[in-house]
Amino acid sequence: MQSSHAVARPSLLLTRKLPDAVEARAARDYRAVLNTDDTPLSGAEIAARASGMDGILCCAGDRLDAAAIAALPDSVRILATFSVGTDHIDLAAARARGLIVTNTPDVLTDATADIALLLMLGAARRASEGERMIRAGAWTGWTPTQLMGTHLGGKRLAILGMGRIGRAVAERARAFGMAIHYHNRSRLTQDLEQGGTFHADAEAMLEHADVLSFHCPATRETTHWLNAARIERLPRGAIVVNTARGAVVEDAALIAALRSGRIAAAGLDVFEGEPNLNPAYRDLPNTFLLPHLGSATVETRNAMGFRALDNLDAHFNKRQIPDKVI
Ligand code: DGY
Repeated sequence: MQSSHAVARPSLLLTRKLPDAVEARAARDYRAVLNTDDTPLSGAEIAARASGMDGILCCAGDRLDAAAIAALPDSVRILATFSVGTDHIDLAAARARGLIVTNTPDVLTDATADIALLLMLGAARRASEGERMIRAGAWTGWTPTQLMGTHLGGKRLAILGMGRIGRAVAERARAFGMAIHYHNRSRLTQDLEQGGTFHADAEAMLEHADVLSFHCPATRETTHWLNAARIERLPRGAIVVNTARGAVVEDAALIAALRSGRIAAAGLDVFEGEPNLNPAYRDLPNTFLLPHLGSATVETRNAMGFRALDNLDAHFNKRQIPDKVI
């Protein structure tokens, strides 16, 4: 005979393959429908698979636009996304339907900040060119002028968006001897600012950006924020780093600036339309590119999954939901 606990378990759709420990917990506590072969699902496919489900554990990359939200069965009351970003979900449509949406803040701060530093170093120190040279068997030996890059120490790092991740990047960059400039909706307390220079006007900050790093969400206001006019305000030879969302950069403008040398290099972990990034990025020698690996450590991905499940547990047990976005 099944226990009353087992009978009461809510049903939960996992839209992607999640780490084993996360799937094990989901299967223990829910009637979980897994996506074991990790087939990417369209919004319409997610809605179809959600038939009879009480909740959905979705991921960045699932396009839950207004049409997909409208197609969800009435049984679904909560979307718990395995991400801090929520730009893949039409929040207005979800709100209109009375859906709860949760995300996974905090747990990916350090991993994402680490990747931002990796991108900064990779771009500044021409890591892609060096790696390609070795892999191509084209390295003929050390020379005094080979692949000379840019030193990060003593340079100014401008951070757009000084939330948890922006501050973790600042902390790491200070250890490299960089001076921090930042723009945020509001100025941080001295305690959090740690000597960084606040710019109320994001555009005015650009002239102080030897390296510009994005840590803001993708919104209507930030879409294509880095355009040709703003690139012109950066010092010649600046470096651009993006671990936030591809949409904040206007690709054509950045690519033109990388080609001309106006921008020395870019370190990019996220791309507009990913995985179908603008192919020009691949051909440029001065790009250091990663496939959206910001949070990709075992520890972090487990923590993200557990955090999403904590939110679902709270909802189904009628407790306060820790990371309720709407
Ligand atoms: C997020 O959480 O928003 C990341 O981009 C996916 O790791």
